[in-house]
Amino acid sequence: MAFFMGIDVSTTATKALLIGPDGEVVSVASSEYPYETPRPMWTEQHPHLWWQATVASIRRVLAESGVNPADVQGVGLTGQMHGLVLLDENGQVLRPAILWNDQRTGAECDEIRTRLGKERLIRITGNDALTGFTAPKILWVRNNEPEIYARARHILLPKDYVRYRLTGEYAMDKADGAGTILFDLGKRDWSREVLSALEIDPAWLPPTFEGPEITGRITPEAAEETGLKAGTPVMAGGGDQSAQAVGVGAVEPGVVALTLGTSGVVFASTQEPFIEPEGRLHAFCHAVPGRWHLMGVMLSAGGSLRWYRDTVAPGTDFDTLLAPATAIPPGSEGLFYLPYLTGERTPYPDPLARGAFVGLTVRHTQAHMTRAVLEGVAFGLRDSFELMKTVGLAEITQVRASGGGARSPLWRQILADVLGVELVTVNTTEGAAYGAALLAATGAGAFRSVAEACSAVIRITGSTAPGPAAEGYQSIYPTYRSLYPTLQPVFYTIAQFVA
Ligand code: XUL
Repeated sequence: MAFFMGIDVSTTATKALLIGPDGEVVSVASSEYPYETPRPMWTEQHPHLWWQATVASIRRVLAESGVNPADVQGVGLTGQMHGLVLLDENGQVLRPAILWNDQRTGAECDEIRTRLGKERLIRITGNDALTGFTAPKILWVRNNEPEIYARARHILLPKDYVRYRLTGEYAMDKADGAGTILFDLGKRDWSREVLSALEIDPAWLPPTFEGPEITGRITPEAAEETGLKAGTPVMAGGGDQSAQAVGVGAVEPGVVALTLGTSGVVFASTQEPFIEPEGRLHAFCHAVPGRWHLMGVMLSAGGSLRWYRDTVAPGTDFDTLLAPATAIPPGSEGLFYLPYLTGERTPYPDPLARGAFVGLTVRHTQAHMTRAVLEGVAFGLRDSFELMKTVGLAEITQVRASGGGARSPLWRQILADVLGVELVTVNTTEGAAYGAALLAATGAGAFRSVAEACSAVIRITGSTAPGPAAEGYQSIYPTYRSLYPTLQPVFYTIAQFVA
């Protein structure tokens, strides 16, 4: 029998998952690790943690499932995007990886815009230089740690370091390639022009592959450590957002994936490389061959609710916290919440943006505040939908909601009302790791295409249509929209006296 493995190297854990020939999940194992914040707004993680966690998770899924490693016909990789892994000429790690949520590279983002011109940068790569992306991190190491930079010979992303340990090959998928902003988005490959403007040696970058393509095979050493069979093919897979989209079946234009984890992501597949002229939406390659996607990223979506719960009602479970908010009228009687707790990416690429409750009166209760948090996140996500419309993404036929936040019926209803679209949920709940396993299955020939794999295994399980509150939200949304531009000068003043 054929089995396929997906491995997700996330910021908090590495998960390994095995699926059977019909796409059913046979076994899942996850091994956690911390990340370091050596300074405020800096985040780093040592690559050896990913490798240890990968080995432990693969061993556990194999042992718990009893699957014969010889029957695993492909391994797909996914993981946190944008993180910078630097290796020397012998493949040794030179410094801890600088992660996607690190904010140290403001000056390097300016340097990139100056070297290339912002317009040209967006025209080629589809994106503006944001602190989260990989290219500014490379420049930061060059500017601040020249002795390390001098020894660098290979640039990888987190999951591709794991790939290197599994296969001995330096390789990357197209989605993560695009997320470095060193990519020519239309050509789906490294941009000579960008590399030369930034003076980055093209030889440091690995070849890139479409999601289902084979990038290498399990080496005898990796087989010894993980229990996988030597020679098992390892497919490219994709950055976590594109693999997540595959995992919920958002692979055709018109179907949008809405993921409510710590961050909130609106992901739309496209046939061509659509670009938002200001770079306010991310435009990357999809893990589906020959497809692209547009993406809006809110940094604190579920993260807003968790922060709010931990601060205002510590120890309360989310169901208990949310229940009284159902009785509060839409609009929370004039109370607004801005979700920019950790700065923002879409639609305001601004590390200095801050969260806020606006409009508090003595009438407002905790339940109002809870509802305002859910609504503020929904309004912020609507900003991404609105931006997508402006670049010509006219038709959004379905929104597939997943992630922890999508488990709340109240939040789903608020989202359907605020976005004015039907939200559906699907049977697959293992996210990016599941998508990576489907990409491996496609690459191994179990399905003719990624779309065929998705339609064979993914089913709609529930649906939430816009209700009577939808109309009211249309007239409240413009007020939400006016808040960030109004408060932005205050955020900048605040940043001057708070480190
Ligand atoms: C996508 C992004 C995050 C990270 C971490 O642009 O930054 O999704 O990949 O999950």
